[in-house]
Amino acid sequence: MGLKDRIRAKARTSLKRIVLPEGDEPRTVVAAEIIRKEGLAEPVLLTRESMASPAGAAFSAEVAEAIYALRSHKGVTQEEAKALAADPMYFGMMMVKLGKADGLVSGAIHSTGEMLRPALQLVKTAPGMKLVSSSFLIECRDRSVGKDGFVVYADCVVNPNPDAESLRHIARASADTARTLAGIAEPKIAMLGEVPFDEAVESGANVFIFPDLQAGNICYKITERLCGATGFAVLQGLAMPCNDLSRGCSVEDIVDTVAATAVQSMRPPFLSVS
Ligand code: ACO
Repeated sequence: MGLKDRIRAKARTSLKRIVLPEGDEPRTVVAAEIIRKEGLAEPVLLTRESMASPAGAAFSAEVAEAIYALRSHKGVTQEEAKALAADPMYFGMMMVKLGKADGLVSGAIHSTGEMLRPALQLVKTAPGMKLVSSSFLIECRDRSVGKDGFVVYADCVVNPNPDAESLRHIARASADTARTLAGIAEPKIAMLGEVPFDEAVESGANVFIFPDLQAGNICYKITERLCGATGFAVLQGLAMPCNDLSRGCSVEDIVDTVAATAVQSMRPPFLSVS
């Protein structure tokens, strides 16, 4: 079974509630129908209408209070908290934070920064994790590579210049993602920089940690374009799973990312990094 089919099959084992803040966006609307029909998750679409409904307005007031409580020490005023609560991205993050949803997927019409910032500020890192990072899950045509053709690259999205301790956290989180989503029961980590890529591949590595974001980002694109590999990125290290889409995403990309988010929400967060 391919990577995405495996993730979808796992998502069907326990129905999770995943909030989609871009609920008026056409690809998201179609994806939500597929997700519901295929039993991959219970999608919660935040739309202009649902946000303005009496239930939406009541929860928005609760969200404003909670944002103020969480962010007033950073200078956020009550008025600003109220304005943030009216923003579907912040509203959705607070649904996750307050236990009204198991995870969130967004980014079809927002930039990575617009999605990441509220996740970092409100959902925050899982206990024991110093930072949020990302893993790119890759399925290679050559099944002799990695674990039956599955490999993980990190960090390709979040941290521009990780220091040694951050790289250690990224490695730990990526190994966990490899187990949870890529079915790699025994992750073999290669810290690229310390070890050359060809040596790492020959020694059977299946989780590749790049020295910085530019290297990871460039390599995953080369792997996709020149090697015919397929894959997608997930965020890791958050207390609750929230994932970013690319603005050029297809309906299927949204469905797969929601399925992956549902699967991530099935596992307990990290307790420590050793
Ligand atoms: N993990 C956990 N928390 C973090 C992290 C992290 N990696 N980075 C920042 N934070 C927290 C900070 O501690 C801060 O929390 P606080 O407000 O409670 O103190 C909060 O996030 C905001 O931190 P800032 O330093 O003010 O972050 P900034 O506003 O600059 O934005 C962000 C952070 C969104 C991650 C930014 O660095 C970013 O946009 N990164 C690049 C993402 C991107 O665009 N990737 C696309 C692909 S990359 C490419 O194409 C090469």
